[in-house]
Amino acid sequence: MKNVVIAVDGPAGAGKSTVAKIIAKKLNINYIDTGAMYRAITYKAIKENINIGDEKALIEIAKNTQIDFKENNIYLDGKIVNEEIRTPEVSNNVSKVAQIREIREIMVDLQRKMGQKYSVIMDGRDIGSYVFKNADFKFYLTAGVNERAIRRYKELKEKGYDVKLDDIIKDIEIRDEIDSKREFAPLIKADDAIEIDTSNKNIDEVVEEMMKYIN
Ligand code: DC
Repeated sequence: MKNVVIAVDGPAGAGKSTVAKIIAKKLNINYIDTGAMYRAITYKAIKENINIGDEKALIEIAKNTQIDFKENNIYLDGKIVNEEIRTPEVSNNVSKVAQIREIREIMVDLQRKMGQKYSVIMDGRDIGSYVFKNADFKFYLTAGVNERAIRRYKELKEKGYDVKLDDIIKDIEIRDEIDSKREFAPLIKADDAIEIDTSNKNIDEVVEEMMKYIN
């Protein structure tokens, strides 16, 4: 049987990863968080004291890094880095890393290989518009900036970070701007993607709406 590919795109904090994980479980397929791949490269660069403006050095890192997903864990060079890649420092630098064409090519190549090997639900920014233009299902989740910022704020507070909502709103606006204006494979809704505004919906409602299309 042919592998199924489900693409879930949209801006930061629209709820993509939460619903994608639930649907992966329901359908018994793999969940791939492509943002985590760009985050892993960013984390490694910070750890190695690479200047985030130094494209050449960042590309070298990406070429010499092993990224794997196993049982909802992300492995960076063989080590689980689920928590390390979610710090505010990584969040604030990842867009700059993700706009580098050569780094995107390496990540996209890995993502396509995963989709060829097994059925996946993949969340990101360019999955339906670029990585898998022929995906079986394409969803584009959105929500207002304030709504998305509040979700991030709660997440970070729960993890013990001392953050301010205003700062998160600003960070999200900057990230949206960089992600949607970059030259290569920007954040964009594919023409044939199903758009769902998650602002006034809870997780179950979004999952239910998506499952209606998938079934
Ligand atoms: O979804 P996230 O916040 O973990 O994504 C982290 C960053 O990576 C974000 O700035 C957008 C970028 N990204 C991307 O450019 N392409 C993807 N397919 C996934 C994420």
